[in-house]
Order: sequence, then C-alpha cells, then structure tokens
Amino acid sequence: MKIKYLIVLAILLVASALAFLIACEEEPPASSQPLTHCELCSTELEEEDSALFCPNAECIVTIIGLDIIDLPALKETFADYFDIGNIFNPGDVNAGGSAVTTNRLTHHYNVLTAENHMKPSYLSSSATSLNAGGLATADRMVNAALASGFKVVGHTLLWHSQIPSWQADLRTNSTTKETALTQMRNYITSVVTHFGDRIYAWDVLNEAFPDGGLTSDWKTSMRTGTQGNPWFMKIGHEFVYEGFRAARLANPNAILYYNDYNMNMLNKASLVRDMVQDVNNQWLSDPLYDGKLLIQAIGMQSHHNTGITPASIQAAINLFKPLGVTISISELDILSQSWGDYSAATAVTNTGRQNAANLYGQFFTVFLNNSDIIKRVTFWGLNDAQSWRARGEPLIFSGNKVKLSYYKIIQSLQAFTE
Ligand code: XIL
Repeated sequence: MKIKYLIVLAILLVASALAFLIACEEEPPASSQPLTHCELCSTELEEEDSALFCPNAECIVTIIGLDIIDLPALKETFADYFDIGNIFNPGDVNAGGSAVTTNRLTHHYNVLTAENHMKPSYLSSSATSLNAGGLATADRMVNAALASGFKVVGHTLLWHSQIPSWQADLRTNSTTKETALTQMRNYITSVVTHFGDRIYAWDVLNEAFPDGGLTSDWKTSMRTGTQGNPWFMKIGHEFVYEGFRAARLANPNAILYYNDYNMNMLNKASLVRDMVQDVNNQWLSDPLYDGKLLIQAIGMQSHHNTGITPASIQAAINLFKPLGVTISISELDILSQSWGDYSAATAVTNTGRQNAANLYGQFFTVFLNNSDIIKRVTFWGLNDAQSWRARGEPLIFSGNKVKLSYYKIIQSLQAFTE
C-alpha cells in the first residue's frame, strides 16, 4: 500500500516537472501589465504599451513606451566619434524649403540623405537637360535641411537602378562610347554644379558590383545584363575614373564616395578595394591632380539581417584601411530576422527582435572601435513603419517609441568609454 502510494507520488512529481519545463519553453504573450522599471534604460515607465517577452526567467523589453523626442539626441551622444544621419523625403520639409518639419529627425540627426529625390530618375529625363520639377523638389529638400542645421549627402550620381530611360537604354542602343562618356560627364557636371557647396559629400557611384558571378578583376566584374550598369556596359571600366574626375572638377570641396551593400562579403569588398586603389593611383598622374584622393571615401550601406556577424564587418574595414580613405556606414538597417525569413515573408519573432537589438549593439562596438576612419553612421529610415523593408522591423525606433536596439547602442557606447 505504502509502495503504491510512493509510486503515484513519484509519477505526479515527474509529470508536473515536465509540464513546468514545457510551459517555460513557450514564449509568453507580450505582457499586458505596464512595465514600471526599465533597468536597461534606468527609467521608471508609466506607459502601458511597453512590449515584453520572457524567453527565460528574465523579461526582455522590445519596445519601450518612451517617445524618442524625449531621449538624449543621438547626434550629441556620439558627437565625439561620428556624425549620425538619417534619410528624408519631401514630406519632411515645409513648402517654402526653409525647415525640416519632422522634429524627431531634427532632434536626433545632423546629416540627411534624400531617400529617393536626388536619384537620376528624379533629376533627369533627357540627356541634354535636367528635369526642372525634380530639381525644384530636391532644392526644397536640400535648402530646408541646411536651414535646419543638417549637412546633406548627395545620393546618387551613377547607378543601375532608379535611372531615366535615356540612361537605361544605353545598355542596348547604338549610342557610341564617346557620346555616352560625354553624356555621363555632362550629367555629373550639371547636377553637381547645380547643388554646389550645399552638398558636402556625393555618392558618385552606387552598387557597381553584383553579389555573384564576380571574377577577381574589378575591371570585368561590374553589373551587366538587363539590370546592368549602363555606363559600365557602354563605356567599360574607365567610366569609374571619368565619373569621379568629373565630380571632382564640378565641386572640388565635396567628399567623393563609392557606395555599396554587402561589403561584408569579402570577395565584393576586395574588388571595391582594388578599384579604389587603381582609380586613386591613376589620379596621381592626372594633370589636374590636386593632392587629394579621387575616391576619398567608401560608403558601406549596411542593409543587414540577423545572419551578419560583427567580425565580417571588421574584416571589410580592415581591407579598406590601407587605402587611406574614410568610411561611412551609409544606409544602416538590420532586419529582425534572417535574410531567408525576410525573403519568405515569415513573421518577425521576439527572438528575432532581440537578436537584431544585440547586433545593433555589437555593430556599434565595431563602428566605435574604428571611429578614427568612420565619419558618419546613417540609418536608412526613422522608424520601422517608414522603412523600405518595414515588415522586417529593421530600425531602432518603432513609430515614435524607442526599441531595445537603441539601448543596446547606448550600452555599447557606455562599454566603449568605460
Ligand atoms: C531605396 C529606397 O529606400 C526606396 O524607397 C526605393 O523604393 C528604392 O531605393 N540602396 C540604395 C538606396 O542605395 O538608394 C536604396 O533606397 C536602398 C538600397
């Protein structure tokens, strides 16, 4: 009798232990309770919309109910290390072009890049003249940004995407190489001259290299085919030198950038390094050589996801260091999921959100460790909903609320300065 009783008790104990373990593995739903104290942000919280999830005993905050306008300005927090930028659109400035009206942009950032409105398809519809309407919008944006105290990056002069048909058609039409070269120089000269010193840095060439099909020779590895770079396809690799040279002549003060994504892929980064090295060497014997590098800076776009490691970013920076260039993180966003899950439109999970937040912290540690050559970190969007990759929740703010990612960035700065 006693033994039977003990066996039943043991079974009950094992069953309840199992049930407990299973319950612990399930992710509890976001807490409906208001969070009262946020240790990470050393703040008492009253808002009821803070989102919590509790993967282990510890609860993790993914969105904190603080308005980002009340946070210390990022541009001031990082002032000793690099500029902090973001993107803007016509709706962010007033009709007269005298102010940026999105006050959360003005609060946190000191550099702006037009998300779209300075791309070739906006500024040009014919090879012989610029598009007056497009220029007027871009002028309004640039003037407003300057009036509100920002510096402005010009994005972008030579690209394979968002280009007018006269540029796209060069891929296949019978325009001669010489004519195309003249058209390219004219386009660059007229755009760069138009904006003059209002633009302090130009992304002269964007995304010239594909991800796959690369050879070890940059001169033969640029984008071709239906979506290829028309200038490369028509002129050949020397369009790079000629394009940067035209930009330098049109505005000797502007910092000239090569800008690309997936630079943490070392085969791509190696081609970029080789190209910059060759072009800058060629410039040394140009009669117009002015003592400066021709390609002075590399923009690492940094459209990342949770599969990217901090070490791979450091490795790319190490490749670029010997060039003597400066670097900007020019379009930063980190998907809260892997590239595969994003491509398959799989829903973001709390674990993904936490992973992205951790990566934000780790990537900023890399940026801070290299702040001798990193001059600017630009986020590609103010908040998740406004992102070009919104469903992947890739930014540090959610609407007007702050995400865990922001605090991970601040923590990385605190650790760096300790
Ligand atoms: C993106 C914009 O964010 C989108 O609004 C637009 O539809 C497509 O272009 N690399 C670049 C940026 O250099 O110009 C791109 O911006 C994102 C990838």
